[in-house]
Amino acid sequence: MPFGYFDEAGRCVANFSAFTIPLMINGRVVKAAGYQSGAVRPEFRGAGLYRDLMRRAFDWAAESGHEIGILLTDKPPLYEPYGFQSVPQHRFSGPMPETAFGRRAARPLDINNGKDIALLSKLLDNRQPVSQQFAPARQKEMFLLNCHFDAGIRLTLIEELDCVAAWKVADDGALQLLDLVCQNIPPVERIVGALNPDATRLEVFFPIDRLDWDGVAVPHKGYCDLMISGLPAATLPEFFMLSPLAEF
Ligand SMILES: CC(C)(COP(=O)(O)OP(=O)(O)OC[C@H]1O[C@@H](n2cnc3c(N)ncnc32)[C@H](O)[C@@H]1OP(=O)(O)O)[C@@H](O)C(=O)NCCC(=O)NCCS
Repeated sequence: MPFGYFDEAGRCVANFSAFTIPLMINGRVVKAAGYQSGAVRPEFRGAGLYRDLMRRAFDWAAESGHEIGILLTDKPPLYEPYGFQSVPQHRFSGPMPETAFGRRAARPLDINNGKDIALLSKLLDNRQPVSQQFAPARQKEMFLLNCHFDAGIRLTLIEELDCVAAWKVADDGALQLLDLVCQNIPPVERIVGALNPDATRLEVFFPIDRLDWDGVAVPHKGYCDLMISGLPAATLPEFFMLSPLAEF
């Protein structure tokens, strides 16, 4: 749902967009409104256009039954007057699990290949949230778009588990697990062997409650703050982060 202003020539001079994102938070799917694409052309700034668009978007979200708001920003003070609070994010770090299951049949998926996109889309349509604690219940478009934008993201299909893992290798060689797309999340030891069994350390970029693996929570500071409105902080899990594949 875009909110915008246009000049006489029909040029968009200010925009703020809202969208619905169902979020699994502590075992319950919450209807959240996500906000993105907020900007005003330089020559129109300082005149209250953005304030007006924010108010319209927040009113729309409340009237259409959204329980909470969520956004990512490098300017948190802009949204604090509207009840948004920055929430700390944590990734999880620990030793690689024993991969007793050995190497599994796996193949890389190519985000530029139509057949691979169709396969991935189908899995994204039927996926289980990657965490019960904090994860989008559905976010197909952003997953695909983030893969498209970041060529460093590797996608591996583990056929026998019907699962796609999104991952990277850190500079120090650690395996960074960014997201899992499947109907039944398998224990992580069944996945990592198919990705990079030689890594000495595993980092997971989403809550690990479904992985059957222990990692230590490490503060994760990205370029933007994650801000949430309408949710008492106590209802959030102690340690969590939004998967990079769900960023918007
Ligand atoms: C940030 C931006 C959207 C503000 O647009 P604007 O039309 O100048 O904003 P408004 O005149 O409507 O001001 C709205 C409020 O935001 C405040 N504000 C403006 N820029 C701000 C900033 N960089 N940081 C914090 N608050 C800011 C204003 O003081 C005003 O507060 P008030 O309602 O208490 O008076 C604009 O500067 C922009 O497009 N910047 C580049 C893109 C960007 O950063 N977008 C936001 C991404 S999350």
